[in-house]
Amino acid sequence: MKQTRIIKTSIQDVSPENVHEAVEVLRRGGLVAFPTETVYGLGADVYNVDAVKKVFETKGRPSDNPLIVHIAEFGHVHDLAKKIPLKAKLLIEKFWPGPLTLVVERSSKVSDSVTGGLDTVAIRMPKHPIALALVQSFGRGIVGPSANLSGSPSPTRAEHVYADLHGKIDMILDAGPTEIGVESTIVDVTVDPPLILRFGGLERERIEDIIGEMRTTVDIGFLKRSPGTRHRHYAPHAKVILVDQGDVNRFGQLLDIYTRKGKKIACIVHSRRLKIIEPSDSCFISRVNLQTFSQSLYATFRHFDQLGVDCILVEGVPEEGIGAAVMDRLRRAENAAIETREHVHPYSEFDHDKYRLE
Ligand code: TXA
Ligand code: MG
Repeated sequence: MKQTRIIKTSIQDVSPENVHEAVEVLRRGGLVAFPTETVYGLGADVYNVDAVKKVFETKGRPSDNPLIVHIAEFGHVHDLAKKIPLKAKLLIEKFWPGPLTLVVERSSKVSDSVTGGLDTVAIRMPKHPIALALVQSFGRGIVGPSANLSGSPSPTRAEHVYADLHGKIDMILDAGPTEIGVESTIVDVTVDPPLILRFGGLERERIEDIIGEMRTTVDIGFLKRSPGTRHRHYAPHAKVILVDQGDVNRFGQLLDIYTRKGKKIACIVHSRRLKIIEPSDSCFISRVNLQTFSQSLYATFRHFDQLGVDCILVEGVPEEGIGAAVMDRLRRAENAAIETREHVHPYSEFDHDKYRLE
């Protein structure tokens, strides 16, 4: 067992010493969990194959599920990417630093261990001052998957990282709760029109304002290719059931069924119509605000797991702006129970060349 050091930092005070210690750990090939504006990441030196392997082992992550590389200087994208398509340049100019990850063709400097053998690499420049300070002082890219055990909800607080990974990683930089609460939006810009691989913190509408219409993995019929769909993702241990917004009757029915089965239930609701649902001994209620739904979602899942809840009923949200990312995670959580873990290459079913940019 390792001693996991927790270092308190804050957005107001990015102490160079704290980042300095974390940089030392990265230089030695160690693992540092760090805050970003989306969720906490598990950092390691992108050019240290052993450190990258440790990231997979520590998370219990299948080695074919590639990692995102975090950078802090625009110039570094040229070290990692073979070429940057025009639409990618426009997005970088407009949205970096920020919650947008771009998938581009990788350069020969990026190892197979990072990309799971793919010929592309995912890159993002986070907006969080501590993430930026860390990557900047380190001077090169840091791989950063979410700092959770594979299969559990991403960590939005340092406590979540600690719960999943203490004793296995060297350090956690604790800067309190993250701002956005769901992961970055991932866009594959090696194809045209670009493809949204994961809905996330940056709204689709804002991206399309800049580069025109994009497609989704569903549009072109290869849902299986989408990262995170093959492996259990974003889900609590409790069974999740998604209910349409404001559907009082359905909530009533489900509460009835599960209470009669003697199950411990929790509800996550936001609309006024659902104010009539009352908590009881076997039913917890979390009333959330639509504006802050994404921020609190994973923390709420973890909280209910700690209470030993069997089943979480969640009220759906309008599928616009960040609501698209929230609904995506809720559907994945709902489907987690019936998903199988196939070890097929994520892109094996996709005819990439058909869509490739010239
Ligand atoms: O907000 C975020 O993106 C957070 C913070 C820490 O930056 N990171 C994060 O990483 O969510 P992770 O590893 O939990 O999710 C990365 C996703 C995975 O689903 C992976 O399959 C996909 O990105 N991915 C990585 N490289 C890829 C590539 N070359 N092509 C397609 N998908 C890729
Ligand atoms: Mg993750």
